[in-house]
Amino acid sequence: MSHLLPLSRVAHLVGVSRTALQRMIRNNELATFDGMVEMEELLRVFPDVQWEDDGEFKRVEEIKRRAFGKRVYERTLPDKEVLAERLYELGKEFASAKSLLLHYDQVFDWLAERLGESARAGDRQAAELRHWLRQQIRETPADAERGKALLAQESVMRIMSAHVRVQPSGHDFFVEGNDTLLEAALRAGIPLNYGCSNGNCGECRARLVSGQVKKVHPHDYVLSDAEKADGTLLMCSYTAITDVVLEAQVAGAVDIPQQTIPTRVKAIEPLGEQILALHLTTPRSQRLRFLAGQYVNLRAEGASGEYYVASCPCEDRHIEVHVRRDNRPFARKAFEDLRKEDTVTLEGPGGAFVIRMESRRPVIFAAWEDGFAPIKSLVQHAMSLEQAETMHLYWVAEGLGHYQDNLCRAWADALDNFTYVPLTAKGGAAQVVEAILAGHPDLARHDLYAAGPKDFLDALRQGSEARGLAPQGWHAELVV
Ligand code: FES
Repeated sequence: MSHLLPLSRVAHLVGVSRTALQRMIRNNELATFDGMVEMEELLRVFPDVQWEDDGEFKRVEEIKRRAFGKRVYERTLPDKEVLAERLYELGKEFASAKSLLLHYDQVFDWLAERLGESARAGDRQAAELRHWLRQQIRETPADAERGKALLAQESVMRIMSAHVRVQPSGHDFFVEGNDTLLEAALRAGIPLNYGCSNGNCGECRARLVSGQVKKVHPHDYVLSDAEKADGTLLMCSYTAITDVVLEAQVAGAVDIPQQTIPTRVKAIEPLGEQILALHLTTPRSQRLRFLAGQYVNLRAEGASGEYYVASCPCEDRHIEVHVRRDNRPFARKAFEDLRKEDTVTLEGPGGAFVIRMESRRPVIFAAWEDGFAPIKSLVQHAMSLEQAETMHLYWVAEGLGHYQDNLCRAWADALDNFTYVPLTAKGGAAQVVEAILAGHPDLARHDLYAAGPKDFLDALRQGSEARGLAPQGWHAELVV
């Protein structure tokens, strides 16, 4: 019986990105079975990986942690009850594997005895077969030690986290620490449907197709008997004990309701003379439901304005917006007298400049000045999803400068499929577009996300289409 591993777990085990594994699958270098990889195949394809030595993997994780900055990236131990249940499940698996082994052992003894009888009666073929069988049993398989180490490491991973696959979208994520299914999905950038996130509205209903879950928060929403019988659960109340398959709907921009949330100013971070980052925190019981690339309306003491969210929806209660110094009422307020702990009311979200969740094609991101805000959110979302083959970020700066240049460089350092090119706007839109497209002669298999002024977007669209970009690959947001 073969041991199958989900692709995301393989990525963690061998210390390469999921996109790199997907590339290997496309090139027929790695065989999969229904999206899973057999342990033997893993040992064959990665003959040099030492499972005991995960130093390199930890190093990459550390760089990622630093690169993601304020992103919530804690990996805490699961709750002790969850831990106990996971150990129990693993114990059951171990017990059934052991009883199967004992059974095979008995079958082997019986077979060897029958072959022995035939051999003693003069059957030469039976004698040879018996000899061959005994030899096979005595010989240790070449990869036995590596196989044992791999299984041990995978078992530890399964105690620390559970893998969840979402149907029908095919997305997957890990439940770590004390996260509920909903929290873990959002952290992984998968915008599953939800409302209150505390068991009242029923919006996060999903159907458990396989695996074990555990209720970790009580809920007031009442599920009907038919729903319960069908395996329906509330994702904000349950965590995963074992690897799980769920049937749940991924939300698009039109599915997200308008929200009004009073937030608190956590920090006002100057990013130069002309722009600042406003860090807001939503109340403990509320988080802003939005998709990367969308905007919100901010209001403080009568001054209001629309701003793109520059942070990732995976950042829980933290919202970051970039405010440029100009004459808009909210900008004046933010630069002149907004203070830490002040209240800013947030309404939204709006806009449809969002990631195409189903696409796995290479992605180009192009931002002009503070068009970087929605692009930054999209980049972080794309990183969480780990779907795009490659990601290329171009940031054109004029007066504002590349005000989060270090962050972009850290992304490029941390991810082997990510490049970052800062550009200046001096030569005008046409020259900038030429520089962006110089490295991309064929865009037939790409998605391009661009945010900036009209002349930049027009020139970029024209240049991209001339290089074969399909209409469905073009995603643009006018930022003035
Ligand atoms: S999000 Fe409201 S019940 Fe789960």
